[in-house]
Amino acid sequence: MMMTNTRSDRILALLADQKSGWSLARPFYLDADLFDVEREKWFSAQWMVVGHRSEVPRKGSHIVRQLFDCSIIIVNAGDAGLRAYHNVCTHRGSQICKQDGQAPLLVCPYHAWSFRLSGELQTTRELPEGVDPSELGLRPVPLKEVGGLILCGLDEARLPDVAPVEEALLPALRLHGIDRARIAVRRHYPTLANWKLVLENFFECYHCRPSHPEYFSMNGHVKVTAMRDEQGAQDWQATVADWNQSLKDGVRLAQVRDPGSITTLKHSVYRQPIGLDRRTHSKSGQPVAPLMGLFDDYDGGETGMHVGRLSFVGGYNDHAVIFQFNPVSVQETDVIVTWLVDQDADLSTIDIDALTFLWDVTTVQDKKIIEANAAGVRSPAYRPGPYTVLEEQTANFVADYMAVMRGLLTEEPVMQG
Ligand code: FES
Ligand code: FE
Repeated sequence: MMMTNTRSDRILALLADQKSGWSLARPFYLDADLFDVEREKWFSAQWMVVGHRSEVPRKGSHIVRQLFDCSIIIVNAGDAGLRAYHNVCTHRGSQICKQDGQAPLLVCPYHAWSFRLSGELQTTRELPEGVDPSELGLRPVPLKEVGGLILCGLDEARLPDVAPVEEALLPALRLHGIDRARIAVRRHYPTLANWKLVLENFFECYHCRPSHPEYFSMNGHVKVTAMRDEQGAQDWQATVADWNQSLKDGVRLAQVRDPGSITTLKHSVYRQPIGLDRRTHSKSGQPVAPLMGLFDDYDGGETGMHVGRLSFVGGYNDHAVIFQFNPVSVQETDVIVTWLVDQDADLSTIDIDALTFLWDVTTVQDKKIIEANAAGVRSPAYRPGPYTVLEEQTANFVADYMAVMRGLLTEEPVMQG
């Protein structure tokens, strides 16, 4: 769809009016035209984690996932590797797969056109004279596998190079055995709010004390940051330094922070102790599953990995959690949380409530507060408000978003800090 100057100019005017360090004006959260621009220009240039290698274990295994507003099929094509396609038949456009499955061919339910796992049209039954079947293969979707995570994006020409993120994240993903994991549980938390409100919430813990009593009481560093306790912050730095000293060789990670730009994939890796004598992030803080990856003992650490702007992985000694934030429409974001354990773990012996407690209760609370935020923003009485010092990362995200949008609308290269 071509963007009219009027639409572009209107958004640029909104960006020009935006007060730095304040939340965004109402149209950024509500305007369907503005969302269309984000979709065309911003989402199409984003890689997002859409699945895990273990979900397509054998040749012919396929899964159906949502990438923004597109349904896609991810297929294990044997020697041809993992492939992804738009879930749209090249005959008259029917969806081909409704659900995950295992089959030697992908067969459209409408008129039974069949496609090889490598995407080519196999059926040529009744194809009109002169139509070349080789032009009717499934439309590919760019796919990369990074340490067991399956990343997809929409527009090959606009997607950034994955190599830097691969280089930065692989040591952390290997440490946590993400490439040797299986899915224990996946839950969707459909959140009725613009995707930016969801991410703004994710990037700050100012809300943790009033809104997340469980999370607040289970994390050593959260109390310090959420209360701006200077002495506590110094003590916490000392705790982190001692903890780092105590780590065995092979389980230390370099901290990585990619400033990101319009042409790179924003990513970061950090590792710290959970604190409060918790060994892992289970309900009780005690072991909940077999150790993963390179760990041969509990060190009570947690690793955070930002994989692009829309996916995050949290790693503990015995499980990991993937967060996906999928903007589905202007006021609807699917928040998907997936809990991983070691591939050899016997799921029948794992206490799923203990495993999922913390992030389930926290994500349900986040859904509630984000939806209340969205409801307030829908009121004509809403006006942007100032971010506090405890919302610094959120303010950075919004500044970054505005710089990207300005760059995309004027097609100037943008570097963000
Ligand atoms: Fe798929 Fe006709 S639409 S076979
Ligand atoms: Fe939260």
